[in-house]
This record gives sequence, structure tokens and C-alpha cells, in this order.
Amino acid sequence: MKILVIGSGGREHALVWKIKQSPHCEQLYCAPGNGGIAQIAEIVPIEETNIRALADFAEEKKIDLTVVGPELPLAMGIVDEFEKRGLRIYGPNRKAAEIEKSKIFAKEFMSRHRIPTGRFRVADSPEQAIKILNSGEFEFPVVIKADGLAAGKGVSICANIKRAEDAIGEMMVKKKFGPAGERVLIEEFLRGRELSFIVFTDGARVQPLVTTMDHKAAYDGDRGPNTGGMGAISPSPFVNEKLFNQIMEEIIFPTVTRLLEEGRRFKGTLYAGLMITDDGPKVLEYNCRFGDPETQAQMLRLESDLVEILVSVVDEDLLREEIKWSNKPSGCVVIASGGYPLKYEKGKLIAGLEEVASVPGLVIFHAGTKFENGNYYTNGGRVLNVCASEPTLSATMRKIYDHIQNIYFEGMFYRKDIGAVKEAK
Ligand code: AMP
Ligand code: GLY
Repeated sequence: MKILVIGSGGREHALVWKIKQSPHCEQLYCAPGNGGIAQIAEIVPIEETNIRALADFAEEKKIDLTVVGPELPLAMGIVDEFEKRGLRIYGPNRKAAEIEKSKIFAKEFMSRHRIPTGRFRVADSPEQAIKILNSGEFEFPVVIKADGLAAGKGVSICANIKRAEDAIGEMMVKKKFGPAGERVLIEEFLRGRELSFIVFTDGARVQPLVTTMDHKAAYDGDRGPNTGGMGAISPSPFVNEKLFNQIMEEIIFPTVTRLLEEGRRFKGTLYAGLMITDDGPKVLEYNCRFGDPETQAQMLRLESDLVEILVSVVDEDLLREEIKWSNKPSGCVVIASGGYPLKYEKGKLIAGLEEVASVPGLVIFHAGTKFENGNYYTNGGRVLNVCASEPTLSATMRKIYDHIQNIYFEGMFYRKDIGAVKEAK
């Protein structure tokens, strides 16, 4: 098969790496890719949001399967465009992707179908938002979210009314996130442990991936601003069989079934971002795609043929046999550019990469890198993912941390406590 992967992050490098191992894969393309992906797939210089150009390319090259990584093209309707042209593509269509695109849609959907989530109210104007905040209905801290894709930055956790008013001002008056801030969600703050619960679904049946725990805060000890994710481990150490089954019964099955009933059949990877509270698991948000960096940790453990799974989802006949995963845990530590997730510089020369990449058992997935004149340079906020899978979590993390320090670029930083399992806050 000729396969095209869309995206340019560590998640896409991990998908490309796994797809490449499949005997079904004859030719592999990635648009727009990155420096690491360029070593194992043919780079197609088309941006992920240029849907028409991507579909033209797929038609011209007779691509048998396109796999979409990021949410933006999904929310824009890339799947609808490809399907209209009779091209096979992995991911939800525009209507199903609404579950990630609109946080208000997702909350109202959960509330309609009694899927466990925190209490919330919707505000259409700054005046209404302030009124709700002053009504005493929500304790502080309170969570305020812009209603749209804001690259993970549209969430504010506000300790007091002053902070909450500031957040409303930024979102609704100054329009910091553009139209995403025209309506906002005001949400109860949930305490507990976060869990990324991710499944393959053909819209009717479901096959879970192994669980993962993301580390969203920029700095050690879960401090600093929220990022796309600074590292992941798999499995999550906090999920036992009872909790796993509870999540499937109370959250995953109802979500898939109700979407189908509402005429929004969801085909692809459904990602439920959960908080495990004293009252049980509750949904913080849905994503309509693979996680980043969760995918890096998961692909290291996947033993089944990824291409067969993806094709079975697209063909609405999800693989019936159990997906095989390695029993060994895995870990992924992200190296980021100084300043990320705020302002950062690009174009720094990366040293030590080849040496670390050649250590047996270590796998490096690139994110924001580019390859030029025989060297790798930084080209984004999250730059590299150093990953391993060893018989225990501590051996896995030791392996990563023993070698990660031999990679260097100016301003780089990484968290030193990924997989250091602590008590819940
Ligand atoms: P979201 O994009 O909705 O997942 O929010 C990003 C991050 O903000 C989550 O991963 C949580 O760490 C935090 N967060 C979001 N909503 C809540 C909530 N209701 N209570 C506590 N933390 C939250
Ligand atoms: N790591 C969080 C996400 O993929 O949304």
C-alpha cells in the first residue's frame, strides 16, 4: 500500500515509524513531516491545513490510506473532502470531530447523555460570565475555557475572582483566542489524577489502546504553564481492572454509541482526557485524534500491525482479534526549546543526537526539527522525544535519563521527573 501520514510532530514520527514496520506498507509519505521523519519517509511539502492540495496529492499518487495526526485538519473537514473523492482516510469527519473542536458541544453532549463530567455553565457575553462567577455557584479555583481550538492554551485555572475576571477579559473582550473566545465555559475545578484514555473505534465497536499518563505542566513537580505534554508513560500506574472497566462502561461505550445515534459516527482515535476523582472518573475533554506524546509511548508497546488496525477502522469493520501489546512499560521524555510553551527561538544546532539514537533500546522521535546540510536544527517548541521500553518503569526511565543528557542545543530543557510517580495533589 501507499500510505500518507499528515502532521509534523513526535506523534506523527511514531506513527510513521510503526507504519513503516508493516509488511503492507510499500511506500510511505509524510506531509509536511520533520527532520527525523525525513529519514524514513518521503517528505511532501504541503501544510497540514491545505486540504485541497493534500487531496490532490493523494489522488495523483494513488494513495491507498491517509492517516491524519493533528486536530486542525480534522476539524476543518479533511476526511469529508477525501471521502468525497473516494480516497481512504483514517480519522473522524467534521461532524464527529466537533467533539474536540467545540468544548461547549462536548459538555452539552455529555450532559444530555449523563456521561460523567464536572459541573459547568456556558456564558455568551462577558457580563453573563461575571454574573455566573459572582453567583457563588462555583468555588475557587474555577476553570474558564474558550470554546474552540486554541492549541491547548484556551484553558485558565483561576484562583480567585480577580483572576477569573482577567481571564474573561482576555478571552471575551480582547479576543486573545479569536472567535474561540466568543463563548466560554465556566467549569468546576476537578481534583485527582489525570489519565489519557484512548481507543480505536469504527463508530460502533471499540478497541482500547494501552493506557498512558501525560505530564502537562512545563516544569518538574507539575509546576509552570500547561503545555501540549512534556512526557508520557504507559501504562498509567493508577488504573486497575475495575477502573478500566468502569471507564469503558460509563464513558467510552456511551460516547461512541450516542455519537452514532446523533448522526456523528466517530471513526478513528477517540481520546478521553479524564480526571480520576474521589467520585470516579470524569471527562475533562475529548480529543478526536492520537495524543502527543502519548502515541510515542504507545507505539513502542504495540505488537500488532498498525496498518491492519487503521484500515479496519476506515472500513467500519474494526479488527476482531485482540490487539497485542508488549507487557513492558514504556516512557517518553520531551526535550523542548527554552521558553516553550510561550516564546522560543528556532534554528539551534542539535548536538549528540546520532550518538544517543544509536544506544540499543533507545528510540528518538523528532518533533520540531529540520535536517539541513547534514545537521539537525530546532524548528519548534517541542523538539525531540527520547523514548524507551524496559522490563520495569524505573529501568525505562533510568535508560532515558542516563542518555538524554548527551543531547544538547542552546536553551533546551526537559522535565526530570517523568514517570516519578507521586501521590495525587
Ligand atoms: P483541556 O484542554 O480541557 O484538557 O484542559 C487542559 C488541562 O487543564 C487539563 O489537562 C487539566 O490539567 C486542566 N483542566 C482542564 N479542565 C479542568 C477541570 N475542570 N478541573 C481541573 N483541571 C482541569
Ligand atoms: N498530550 C495531550 C494531547 O495530545 O492532547
